[in-house]
Amino acid sequence: MPQAPLIESVTEESIALLIDRFYAEVRGDPVLGPVFEASIAPDEWPEHLATIQSFWSSVMLTSGRYTGNPVAVHRAVRNLERSMFPRWLQLFEQSARELFAPEIASLFVGKAHRIAASLELAVFHQLGRPPDGMQLPSQVGASVRRSAKCD
Ligand code: HEM
Repeated sequence: MPQAPLIESVTEESIALLIDRFYAEVRGDPVLGPVFEASIAPDEWPEHLATIQSFWSSVMLTSGRYTGNPVAVHRAVRNLERSMFPRWLQLFEQSARELFAPEIASLFVGKAHRIAASLELAVFHQLGRPPDGMQLPSQVGASVRRSAKCD
């Protein structure tokens, strides 16, 4: 089957095509699919897709159409795990590269990576808790004191 030509411009219409393609992948994904299906009831999907459309319109076309709070929304998503971000980004990149000319796809992918990184940090990093694998100096002191049994 001949391939459709790659899209050369970012418009509301081409964003809608990307969202449709990406969500077809996401909903069929064994890990991500169930998280979305558990949060979004069948009759809520049109509204969700419209919100995502306005989000990407704001990001790529600076349309200002999206006025929500993704951090608060994702904090409330049940069973959302940090390990899901690379998969989400992989599917998003795949969809973008299937549809758009390489330089346009890279614009979407670059934005997605930056937003995902800040979203992940905001959702999973708690104030006062060091990043994964690190200890605060005070905790290092406490564990040294504990192991030295001097308390
Ligand atoms: C780790 C993978 C992710 C999962 C499993 C996930 C899942 C979800 C779910 C279930 C919702 C709907 C929540 C609800 O309405 O109750 C949602 C909303 C949304 N997601 Fe994600 N998400 C992920 C990553 C991302 C990333 C990386 C972005 C942006 C680049 C993003 C952008 C959004 C936006 C804009 C909304 C709508 C927020 C609103 O209602 O205002 N998500 N996500």
